Amino acid sequence: MDVRVLQGSVTEVETETVCLGIFQGVEELSGAAQAVDQALGRLLSALLRDRDFRGEKGETYWLRTQGKLPAKRVLLVGLGKREKFTPDVVREVSAAAARAAAKFGELTTVVHGAGVGGLDPALAAQALVEGAILGDYRFKRYRHEREADAEGKLQTLTIVEFDDAKISALEAGAKIGRILAEAACFARDLANEPGNALTPRELAARAQALAEEFKLHCEILTERELEAEGMNGILGVSRGSEEPPRLIVLDYSSSTAPEQAPYVLVGKGVTFDSGGVSLKAREGMEAMKYDMAGAAAVLGALKAIAELQLPLRVVGLIPAVENLPSGRALKPGDVLQMANGKTVEVTNTDAEGRLILADALNYAQRYRPRAVVDLATLTGACIVALGKEAAGLFGNDRALMEGLKAAAEASGERVWELPLYDEYRELLKSEVADVKNSILGRGTLPQAGAAAGAMFLKEFVAYPWAHLDIAGTAYDVETRLYCPKKGATGYGTRLIAQWLLEESKRLSS
Ligand code: BES
Ligand code: ZN
Ligand code: ZN
Repeated sequence: MDVRVLQGSVTEVETETVCLGIFQGVEELSGAAQAVDQALGRLLSALLRDRDFRGEKGETYWLRTQGKLPAKRVLLVGLGKREKFTPDVVREVSAAAARAAAKFGELTTVVHGAGVGGLDPALAAQALVEGAILGDYRFKRYRHEREADAEGKLQTLTIVEFDDAKISALEAGAKIGRILAEAACFARDLANEPGNALTPRELAARAQALAEEFKLHCEILTERELEAEGMNGILGVSRGSEEPPRLIVLDYSSSTAPEQAPYVLVGKGVTFDSGGVSLKAREGMEAMKYDMAGAAAVLGALKAIAELQLPLRVVGLIPAVENLPSGRALKPGDVLQMANGKTVEVTNTDAEGRLILADALNYAQRYRPRAVVDLATLTGACIVALGKEAAGLFGNDRALMEGLKAAAEASGERVWELPLYDEYRELLKSEVADVKNSILGRGTLPQAGAAAGAMFLKEFVAYPWAHLDIAGTAYDVETRLYCPKKGATGYGTRLIAQWLLEESKRLSS
């Protein structure tokens, strides 16, 4: 999508569609809406008065301008209640408008919220562009139907702003918004790929292609190298599959800050999770193609960071495996010796994420990282706790976790902190090894499942660390207008990019 910022008045631009946002329950129109209302002989006022249009969040209404404006049509979009207005509402209504206008190919819009909404112009423009790009997204790779094409795609988004003084802020915000949203769509594309197309090797190939495009250093560890490193978590989980595992290492180093301690991002890359010998139920198992959404988020974040040319060093680590049962597969009761020397009793082969992440987290140590954040579709228990509205946030470093919370607020990719009480260590106790990977099974009631996963990971970290359990937020989110109701959300890409954007500002100030 081509994104532009234009100085001018909505009553003067010649375009297919001009989009105006209107709050629920307004009586007096102001700004751009007032100017359009006047040009159209008080038509907008009449529509509001007669309740043809109520301004509910995401509601849309089309008007033809009949030559009274140079724009052919006006698209009204509801901003919802004024007291509930946030940058994320801008994202949502922008997505609704983009979808409505897609069939005409272009949309010219004011920045909702930068005027009476009281939002910072750069942030509002960023959210507007993100919403339009995210809302316009569809995964059509494997669909031949013409109906999918008939919906159209937005080619051009033009932001019009009357106030000269706001233009440069809007341009800066729009650019960030475009980069972050395109990166999130890249992550969606990866996560939406079925397991037969996106194997661990293919994920590595996609990472390599990304590295070439953005001049990142890329190293792919194959089985032999994983053996030499003693990465028995990754090797163990992948044993049941014909597909060999990979550890993907990507390294972004800004030319302006190459020597600093890096931020390390770790993403769970299980390209399909059948559960292994502890086989999952058949219903809904197809969703386990999304079990590499953490990996997708890490790749998306690196794409955004490289495009923004942030003055940082950022390393991405992705353990990539397929979890299947076979005659060679891990079995319940097996014991693994991990790279840091700890032994793990595998009580449930479906708790595979923590086994492969343990190796990657241990590997991260060699970078002497400033901070490590992992993203993983780790536990069904996290969905039980938080649903689809927030990722579970755990960690051992207050400043790091607060930084992520601030980025969550700005990006609309919510996190909710859950505790890592010392007492949860009990959940890992094993009779036969140093720790076990799961508490489920043999009649025990599941307790604090998301925290047990985090607690297991904590055994393998010795640096500032945060863990995001994205099992709920990674796919099939029906409550956000900029997320497709079915399919990958790209969750985590914008959150992490926003966080590192703020970190780079903090470090250089
Ligand atoms: N990939 C799943 C977690 C998951 C479940 C993600 C549902 C998205 C939706 C993970 O590997 C898993 O199976 N976890 C087990 C852990 C348990 C055996 C301790 C779970 O949540 O049941
Ligand atoms: Zn599993
Ligand atoms: Zn899994």
